[in-house]
Amino acid sequence: MTGDAADPALWVSAMKAIASSKDRGIAIIKPREQKEIISRIRDAEKAGAAAVGIDIDGAGLITMALKGQPVSPKTFQEIGELVSATRLPFILKGIMTAGEADLAVEAKAAAIVVSNHGGRVLDHTPGTADVLPEIAKRVKGRLIIFADGGVRAGADVLKFLALGADAVLIGRPLVTGAFGGGSEGVAFLFNKMKDELIQGMLLTGTADVKLVKKEILFSSGV
Ligand SMILES: Cc1cc2nc3c(=O)[nH]c(=O)nc-3n(C[C@H](O)[C@H](O)[C@H](O)COP(=O)(O)O)c2cc1C
Repeated sequence: MTGDAADPALWVSAMKAIASSKDRGIAIIKPREQKEIISRIRDAEKAGAAAVGIDIDGAGLITMALKGQPVSPKTFQEIGELVSATRLPFILKGIMTAGEADLAVEAKAAAIVVSNHGGRVLDHTPGTADVLPEIAKRVKGRLIIFADGGVRAGADVLKFLALGADAVLIGRPLVTGAFGGGSEGVAFLFNKMKDELIQGMLLTGTADVKLVKKEILFSSGV
């Protein structure tokens, strides 16, 4: 999954990464002006992306505005336009309430990312693990639920799955892995977390990542 920033070189490198990822790359685009987003969706389609999306919580980033590339909140109608502008699955990243998740379903998004952007866009936002259960209760099975924020070990993956995520995303640890050891560093990190996840599954009687029970966190299962 690649990001988007004011520096155009980052977009070029993101498209290169997607083109070399054998149909597994996902482009996440900032909530720019509609035509700018659609132009980037086309870039991602050409690069062979598996999906596209926008980080709707990037709406207030001053770093973008300072470089003449304004970002802003998107209306429900604008989101609908973007979803129907591509045949690729569309992801809305930055969902923090059950109501927003409902709207994502209504807008025909294929997936949401329950995310507060790593706590980097607005102080005092709740943690994603706190809001995830209510969101999952509302929309589980109607779209894919990704979650991120503070996944640092395999056990954290298990906890997010138990709270209702279908899959997790990992951000900052990958930066450390990549800077420290390039692709080998990233592979090391993933393998370590995978081993930890398997260990956690063994010790909680979890046979399948699709069947993680809430009871491993809360004895009453609530
Ligand atoms: C330096 C930095 C740049 C980021 N840029 C983007 C971005 O371009 N698009 C995006 O959707 N999220 C971006 N994020 C947020 C991450 O995707 C992720 O939601 C957040 O860091 C929480 O996950 P983590 O705790 O595993 O890092 C960025 C985060 C960091 C630290």
